[in-house]
Amino acid sequence: MENKRPENMVRITTPELAQAFIDEQITELRSQIGNKKVLLALSGGVDSSVVAALLIRAVGQQLVCVHVNHGLLRKGEPEQVIRVFRDQMNANLIYVDAVDRFLDKLAGVSDPEQKRKIIGAEFIRVFEEEARKLEGIEFLGQGTIYPDILESVGVKAHHNVGGLPEDLRFELVEPVKLLYKDEVRMVGKQLGLPDNMVYRQPFPGPGLGVRCVGAITRDRLEALRESDAIVREEIEKLPETPWQYFCAIPDFQSTGIRYVDGQGQRYMGWAVVVRAVNTVDAVTATVPEIPFKTLCTIRDRIIQSVPGVNRVLWDVSEKPVATIEWE
Ligand code: XMP
Repeated sequence: MENKRPENMVRITTPELAQAFIDEQITELRSQIGNKKVLLALSGGVDSSVVAALLIRAVGQQLVCVHVNHGLLRKGEPEQVIRVFRDQMNANLIYVDAVDRFLDKLAGVSDPEQKRKIIGAEFIRVFEEEARKLEGIEFLGQGTIYPDILESVGVKAHHNVGGLPEDLRFELVEPVKLLYKDEVRMVGKQLGLPDNMVYRQPFPGPGLGVRCVGAITRDRLEALRESDAIVREEIEKLPETPWQYFCAIPDFQSTGIRYVDGQGQRYMGWAVVVRAVNTVDAVTATVPEIPFKTLCTIRDRIIQSVPGVNRVLWDVSEKPVATIEWE
């Protein structure tokens, strides 16, 4: 397949067009792959999930999916990947619990770029180790989409396993590389993937790692993961959801007070930052109005159920001058 979208290529805007694309890809994938094996890093994001679902339809058990849990995924994500792909689609799925590995490597590292580098490099290492355990792999599936080709920037470097050593540079299988994001979602929906996977908000490759500000500690990371799940749940009840909505947790504590037997006791706790933004291209971003009631519900749920948190802040900063992520 060429890397350029043909001028006359029809935009996939209906389930029928999505189905026609799926049928065509199944035929193409079968003829490209034959009876060989394909390896795919399955993060659970829209693009890799759609590629996995397409390949399962085309070559079934010849696809080997590797899901690396680096400990920086959101609440429920690894479980959903296993449920959808292993249990429902009968995929050949290898689940790698690499949580300790990543968190040990990241311990004490506070520089954001250094954190990103460690996460990216460790991801490749884990994936490489899994690839070496397998025999007969000849293809590497990738969730490259058309904007990745147009931009050709490194944003996806963390997901895409381009950094593999020479002897593991398998022939690439990139069935959605000429599709725009909305088309990938259409195809995913038609393939029967769940809505919360298909319409998922963008999530950075280094995951919660860049939202647990400064040097990551396990307790603060857990507080972030729990708070983030509450924020997502409450914001998804609104009639319209922003482009991205999440939490960050800075690495400072502030004073709180709690009452034990009528006696006020001061103690130190973390502040969780709630962030929601709208953007078209992530170059600039505005902050949508979130009903105050929703913010109060988020505050109450976080304070009541997340250990160690004593403040909830609402980030009204736009991009520029702030970036969308906190790191
Ligand atoms: P910023 O924070 O630069 O983010 O305003 C712009 C968009 O990019 C996402 N982002 C990342 N995505 N790896 C990714 O895959 C990263 O290291 C990364 N950093 C930021 C961010 O979520 C937003 O959508």
